[in-house]
Amino acid sequence: MIVAVLHVEETWPLDLPAQAQALCASTDTEQPGPRHILRETGAWAVGGRVEGSERPHHYDFAELRLTPAALREHFATLGWNRVAAFHTGEVMHRAEQQLTLAAGRELEADLLIQLGVATSVYWETSHYSRIRCLESVVRTYPHGTAQLNLLPLAPRETGARDLLLNAIVAQNCGATHFIVRGGVVGASDPALTRAATELKIQLARVPERAYVEERAAFLPVNALPAGAQARTIGPEELGSRLAWGREVAPWFSFPEVIQELRRVYPPRAQQGFTVFFTGLPSSGKSTLANVLLVRLLELGGRPVTLLDGDIVRKNLSSELGFSREHRDLNIRRIGFVASEITKNGGIAICAPIAPFDAVRKEVRAMIAPLGGFLLAHVATPVSVCETRDRKGLYAKARAGIIKEFTGISDPYEEPQDADIVIDTSELSPEECVQAILLHLEKEGYVGTSDSSTASA
Ligand code: ADX
Repeated sequence: MIVAVLHVEETWPLDLPAQAQALCASTDTEQPGPRHILRETGAWAVGGRVEGSERPHHYDFAELRLTPAALREHFATLGWNRVAAFHTGEVMHRAEQQLTLAAGRELEADLLIQLGVATSVYWETSHYSRIRCLESVVRTYPHGTAQLNLLPLAPRETGARDLLLNAIVAQNCGATHFIVRGGVVGASDPALTRAATELKIQLARVPERAYVEERAAFLPVNALPAGAQARTIGPEELGSRLAWGREVAPWFSFPEVIQELRRVYPPRAQQGFTVFFTGLPSSGKSTLANVLLVRLLELGGRPVTLLDGDIVRKNLSSELGFSREHRDLNIRRIGFVASEITKNGGIAICAPIAPFDAVRKEVRAMIAPLGGFLLAHVATPVSVCETRDRKGLYAKARAGIIKEFTGISDPYEEPQDADIVIDTSELSPEECVQAILLHLEKEGYVGTSDSSTASA
């Protein structure tokens, strides 16, 4: 599908650092703006008139995807003459609801809440849950005074410029006012005020709000009563409370929102996870993986899948050999399957040699955002592995019959990032697996989800 045609009018060589400097006054990739710009690739930029041809089709939440023209028409039908737009990329909680409600009252305007969805991915559950959360937040405003709409506008993270672009879009959508939160980057930039005078839409700066228990209310942070204890819960704290199944106070958010978040971000004890063994041939990976399988099945609650090196090579990677390229491909396949299992709340136990660090890190990066990931290095010394050699492979490798044999004629990169290191020459399989289970328990992935005693 062709969504638009660019009539090329100019081209110029890309200079991303210069662009970051011009837009964000910085090239520091620790800051979101420059990071956003500097991760682009390519040598040339192309500019010119853009001619829309066909709107991209979305199958989700079609009723929330009104175009600017349709929104203006909708407001005309409703008789909304004064509309204050609020743009957000996140789930709103009570603080944001109170902030917008106060702004709407102050301006005597109805509210257009626009959730940025340009960068969210339709196969990720977080996309749906964010929208469902906002649907329930919008129902908490006085009846018929707030409208939710999805906004296909990607954040640029360029402070005042980004706010200005959002204000222009809000204006096109029929808003008369654009709410600028006190806490956002660029809110107090004089350049924003100057540029905004050229717009029809008016900026409405509103202070952030925090919860004050004595008043049982959200008050503007710039006008807190003396000695008041203002409370907020940041995204990290919220994430940790959800992960450990701890209380999220009713003052912080709405019951429907908390319920939805708990459903999508269940406590770790109900999340999926992957235990990824790595180690030399005959180091004891398969034995440990099998004991762990049995112990986890005994605990119950989640389906467990064992992706043992030999099983995978028979089924998933039967055409692969032992070159670095093939080994990496093999590990990527295992990682992909484990990530799907983890995402869907199951347990994956992987036990390949996985001799190369880079691809192990790739697998961790793929799985960690979806649930738990534990890298267990089975660090049995090669001399011990060689004496075990049940398949006689070390002997064949020594004799040069098997080429590229890990530990003998092919490298094994010891992991520096293992979550647990196990030497099976000193401990029994039961002891090794017990150590893994204790680690998983400490991290909250197995055992009780009542975590009043949890350390994190
Ligand atoms: S990996 O390097 O891609 O992670 P994987 O765990 O799948 O290896 O397969 C290792 C198994 O293949 C060993 O247990 C051994 O039985 C067999 N094998 C055959 N040739 C080799 C070799 N050259 N190096 C290592 N393992 C080999």
